[in-house]
Amino acid sequence: MSGSGRQGSGPGGGLRIGRHEVWPPVVLAPMAGITNVGFRRLCREQGGGIYVCEMITTVALVERNPKTLRMIAFGDDERPRSLQLYGTDPEITAAAVRIVVEKDLADHIDLNFGCPVPKVTRKGGGSALPWRRRLFARLVRAAVDAASPAGVPVTVKMRKGIDDDHLTYVEAGLAAQDAGVAAVALHGRTAAQRYSGTADWDAIATLKQALDVPVLGNGDIWEADDALRMVAHTGVDGVVIGRGCLGRPWLFADLEAAFEGRPERRLPTLGEVAATMRRHAELLVDQFTAGARNPARGERDGCTDFRKHVAWYLKGFPVGSELRRELAMIESLAQLDDLLGKLDPAEPFPVATLGQPRGRTNSPGKVFLPDGWLASRDDDTVPEGAELADSGG
Ligand SMILES: Cc1cc2nc3c(=O)[nH]c(=O)nc-3n(C[C@H](O)[C@H](O)[C@H](O)COP(=O)(O)O)c2cc1C
Repeated sequence: MSGSGRQGSGPGGGLRIGRHEVWPPVVLAPMAGITNVGFRRLCREQGGGIYVCEMITTVALVERNPKTLRMIAFGDDERPRSLQLYGTDPEITAAAVRIVVEKDLADHIDLNFGCPVPKVTRKGGGSALPWRRRLFARLVRAAVDAASPAGVPVTVKMRKGIDDDHLTYVEAGLAAQDAGVAAVALHGRTAAQRYSGTADWDAIATLKQALDVPVLGNGDIWEADDALRMVAHTGVDGVVIGRGCLGRPWLFADLEAAFEGRPERRLPTLGEVAATMRRHAELLVDQFTAGARNPARGERDGCTDFRKHVAWYLKGFPVGSELRRELAMIESLAQLDDLLGKLDPAEPFPVATLGQPRGRTNSPGKVFLPDGWLASRDDDTVPEGAELADSGG
């Protein structure tokens, strides 16, 4: 796509998610341990879109788990406030959604059916659940019914299926549409693929053809121009960006430029990357300090949370291993400033990293499922022990 022609489901050519008009048609993918309020603000400072919070489990919300309640935090100016829920039980999910709408905790609810981790699929949750088509439909409908009186749109995010022999995405997409969802997001991989190989954009195109509600494409968008390629290839109404923005929040500025037909793409120098790292750490410190009884503790916790991002920011830059190691162990902003001061600010962006995968790229693996799971598609019994008590994945 070139030029400034807006395309998509909304009247202005943007993405419409229920009552929310979204421009550019870009969604920050929910990522456990990453997309907290501080990281989302950092990304939002770069460009428009929807920025989804870390996954919240329905059981933890219904039980008013204090850690979970703290995780449901949004910036004052964050609209729509987008919350992802993980659930396996229609009744518990409906109860969690009622809490969200009654307490006005969010403006958009996404349901997670993409999680491939064994502890989740072994119990029939996450990416295993759509296989049980009746249970899936019941669960989505329960969420939509609980959210719709308040006008809060519900979306689902899913994978292609369990493996290549057990694909569910078209059937699940149609069922979710029937249940009243506002959009469907597809990560073009099966659960068995985890994060290996390449995302199947043809499957995303197939889903787009099959549905009337907006479809969001997800998987392997590393650069803004990949997003335009995905739209051109699949016709999707919007794109969902996960790993591509790790250590590169400015990708959201590039995405906005790309969708507006502007040519500029950011290639920050190491000095500019260091300033972004400082901003990120500062936002995490603010996040952990808010509500903390001991502000010094908030600074340390924010810095600890920042450590996992260091390697992503420095990927491809010529920075020695000792300095990298020290940066990945910071306990205070003063320490961070001191270490960032040792970087060469004029170092140009390592263009060889452009378009390269980052973050998780693990190998395919066996999908662990409850006994008899594949043989009984129409069994809609709620799987036992599949709820997660811990939010954040
Ligand atoms: C660290 C990490 C945590 C994730 N956590 C979640 C999650 O809580 N909920 C979810 O639906 N997907 C989660 N995902 C999957 C992403 O949302 C996304 O679907 C996936 O990374 C593919 O998109 P990408 O190729 O743009 O990264 C996670 C991915 C990563 C790398």
